[in-house]
Amino acid sequence: MLLCRISLVSQTLPRWGRRSQRGGGLLLRAVSFSSSRCHGVSSGEGSAQPAESGSGQGQYRDTVLLPKTDFPMKLTGQKLLDKELEIQQDCKFADLYSWQRERKAKKEFCLHDGPPYANGDPHVGHALNKILKDIRNRFEMLRGRQVHYVPGWDCHGLPIELKALGELGTSGLSPLQIRQKAREFAEGAIARQMAAFQRWGVMADWDQCYYTFDGAYEAAQLKVFQEMHSKGLIYQDYKPVFWSPSSRTALAEAELEYNAEHVSRAIYTTFPLATLPPNITKEAGLDSVSVLVWTTQPWTIPANQAICYMPNAQYSVVKRLDNSELLLVATERTANMAALLGTELEVVSTFTGSQLEGGICKHPTIPSKEVPLLPANHVTMAKGTGLVHTAPAHGMEDYSVASQFKLSVDCIVNEDGKFTELAGPELHNLSVMNEGTDRVISMLKECGSLVKEERCVHSYPYDWRTKQPVVIRPSKQWFINTASLKDKAKEALQKVRVLPESARSSLLAMLDRRTYWCISRQRSWGVPIPVFYHRETGEALINKHTVSHVAQLFKEKGSDCWWELPIETLLPAAVLKKSKAGPVGDYIRGEDVLDIWFDSGASWSDSRADAYVEGKDQIGGWFQSSLLTSVAVRNKAPYKSLVVHGFAVSEKGEKMSKSLGNVVDPDVVINGGKDPSTPAFGADVLRWWVAESNVFSEVQIGPNALNSARDSISKVGLRLLPAELNRIE
Ligand SMILES: *[C@@H]1O[C@H](CO)[C@@H](O)[C@H](O)[C@H]1NC(C)=O
Ligand SMILES: *[C@@H]1O[C@H](CO)[C@@H](O)[C@H](O)[C@H]1NC(C)=O
Repeated sequence: MLLCRISLVSQTLPRWGRRSQRGGGLLLRAVSFSSSRCHGVSSGEGSAQPAESGSGQGQYRDTVLLPKTDFPMKLTGQKLLDKELEIQQDCKFADLYSWQRERKAKKEFCLHDGPPYANGDPHVGHALNKILKDIRNRFEMLRGRQVHYVPGWDCHGLPIELKALGELGTSGLSPLQIRQKAREFAEGAIARQMAAFQRWGVMADWDQCYYTFDGAYEAAQLKVFQEMHSKGLIYQDYKPVFWSPSSRTALAEAELEYNAEHVSRAIYTTFPLATLPPNITKEAGLDSVSVLVWTTQPWTIPANQAICYMPNAQYSVVKRLDNSELLLVATERTANMAALLGTELEVVSTFTGSQLEGGICKHPTIPSKEVPLLPANHVTMAKGTGLVHTAPAHGMEDYSVASQFKLSVDCIVNEDGKFTELAGPELHNLSVMNEGTDRVISMLKECGSLVKEERCVHSYPYDWRTKQPVVIRPSKQWFINTASLKDKAKEALQKVRVLPESARSSLLAMLDRRTYWCISRQRSWGVPIPVFYHRETGEALINKHTVSHVAQLFKEKGSDCWWELPIETLLPAAVLKKSKAGPVGDYIRGEDVLDIWFDSGASWSDSRADAYVEGKDQIGGWFQSSLLTSVAVRNKAPYKSLVVHGFAVSEKGEKMSKSLGNVVDPDVVINGGKDPSTPAFGADVLRWWVAESNVFSEVQIGPNALNSARDSISKVGLRLLPAELNRIE
């Protein structure tokens, strides 16, 4: 049946049409059989009988009876590879995209390519993604659509910068030198990836790709930035962010990896009550009460500014029966505390949280410092004592308490993750996660405040790149106010078709999780944030005049000019005048670059794409960053539909990793490896593997999947080849 249908099709379509008809299929090989330009396919390979061509009854006969032929049913090894390449050449695969662009079509189908990251060699995850996109594009082409598909690359960012610098580190290199090395590195990765994508038969015009390091791209990105800034959606603020001491930069949520096995030295420690809350002073015998707190980050104790309670919970003053100490804890935590301390606790007095108002504690390690008891709604009874140590500079919730009560947000940790001078001479220069923690714990011990230390295994954020733990520290950064975009983004998402539908809830949940998006990075390899600062006041100078001037320069010269040009060119008199700003000598240029998620997130163009097709890791990544910027600027989603696919995993279902030794290299799949267990399968096998997989779950790849794909192709080949060859001759 299959055979007959295909023969009919090739009868009724013009030459290129037939090619596209077949080119729309899954396989490279199938393309060749239908094109008369491809008679090279059979030359010297076989001597099949010519079939009757043209119309009439005879046309089906030969397609059903398999003629005798010397044509090999299976090609293996180098012959197979040569044949595939020959087909790609002879059939002008490279021209297919532009051919269909020129073809008359009523409708366009736009699949906007999520740019792969230009930091390494092509891997099997790329193959899954690119081939899946290609199958979709060819399918749409078959339906008579004009396909719009422009491959892109995400070219900036810290991982590239670090790889490019390698052993050099940043020592002694200027931003321009770093950028030069990073650019060369990215260009190398792009060239290798592009060659692979072409070899996989992906239909595109490879001379017309987009790159996030192109001046024109950067200029368009600044336009998005400017529009968001003028709408008040981008602002500068000093607040706690995830900070990676190992990379010396702020990180966004998307750049964190949570390590569920992280071990912290959690402590219980006391803060003596210096002033009892007015409403409980009347109670007798409460002379020397201490507030008991718990923290997994003892190094933040020197930055404590308050202790928070839950206003409508019950609290008790309890007496330790082993040493008569009076402790203040949440009533429902007393049993846990007794077990933890290994002593009985006698309840002396109980009251509601709101009665704690007005209480003031002494800081255990800083004699002159007093900290208030404050109400807060993030206090939980699930862990700890029901009284929460609050260090506004080094915790997100702590910071919101500080905003509400105007507490100091002084930072005690520097860029390298070491205590600053502000932490005091005993701690200055110690690394907070290591010796700093040791030292704080011993200081608490010395002053008699340490009640208990325990190992705490919990999920803790790590830098995705260096695999080192991060800390929370405040710094001056640029942010996007995602909280105010959230509702619009959710609304826009309701109109988007999501495949599979189950991914929609994850997309919505991700939008809820992120209240702001830190977009500044203290690195060199990126698009500079187009801002100038006043030398004296530090005030930022940024408006539509300054940004459009800088964007124009980027368009002409690329963003290197931010470092190359004198400030008088970046900020000329005319622009200063329009900005009503002082002389240029008052200003210095900013040194931060934009988060790469903002780079790629601004890749949408004026029209809306029919589809975005990416792996599920983009739910919190590109799908989201693109949605947020698009909703911010033009109040609609950048895509009409989303296709979310799973990851490629090993045949045991494991994530591929070098340490497990289960990485499948697409180049080895195609061209074969040194090992006899890794024969050359050719690109068709890779395509077949994608085509027959359920891409909405994890997609397994390994010898079984590849052998079975090859066998399936051979079966199709058996049916197809002779008849098709006949037609060609
Ligand atoms: C504290 O006591 C005063 C006087 O008895 C009362 O008016 C006030 O509501 C109490 N405050 C709290 C927080 O319980
Ligand atoms: C900390 O390091 C700085 C710079 O290396 C040094 O000047 C200072 O004396 C050090 N402080 C302490 C307390 O070790």
